[in-house]
Amino acid sequence: MNDLPPGEFPIGSENDIVSARRIIRNAATALGFGLTDVTRIVTAASELTRNIYVHAKSGIMRWRSVHRGSGVGLELTFADNGPGIPDVAKALQVGYTTGTGLGMGLPGSKRLTDEMTIQSEVGRGTTIVVRKWLPT
Ligand SMILES: Nc1ncnc2c1ncn2[C@@H]1O[C@H](COP(=O)(O)OP(=O)(O)OP(=O)(O)O)[C@@H](O)[C@H]1O
Ligand SMILES: [Mg+2]
Repeated sequence: MNDLPPGEFPIGSENDIVSARRIIRNAATALGFGLTDVTRIVTAASELTRNIYVHAKSGIMRWRSVHRGSGVGLELTFADNGPGIPDVAKALQVGYTTGTGLGMGLPGSKRLTDEMTIQSEVGRGTTIVVRKWLPT
């Protein structure tokens, strides 16, 4: 119940977002998260895979279990070689968008997870890592 085979799944189409949601729903459930947390994690994965598809066209999602002391968590990585984010702090603000969205995806994902790190370089791409810890 507290370990999980790691894996990865490429994102390149609208349909891949649907598949990614199902993969992460299964992974989070297998790791032992309850329905509310599973829904939070799946929502974040959905937003971050959608960002890959919308803003970078393609990329990859990875998942693995992580440990700290006796604690167990799920780590998800979303990486692309797209245009990058010039101002990460700005991109994290609710309502900030360079597209036609609501600018809710990044701030929402941060709120729904326990940890989020964003590494991005203009012209090179973006890597976003989120972690959610199982309640102890
Ligand atoms: N993977 C990415 N590559 C490049 N830019 C990104 C990426 N993810 C987010 N961004 C930038 O950060 C901005 C904010 O992202 P966020 O997900 O919060 O909003 P959105 O995608 O524009 O709209 P919404 O998610 O509400 O539909 C985006 O408009 C885009 O400029
Ligand atoms: Mg978005």
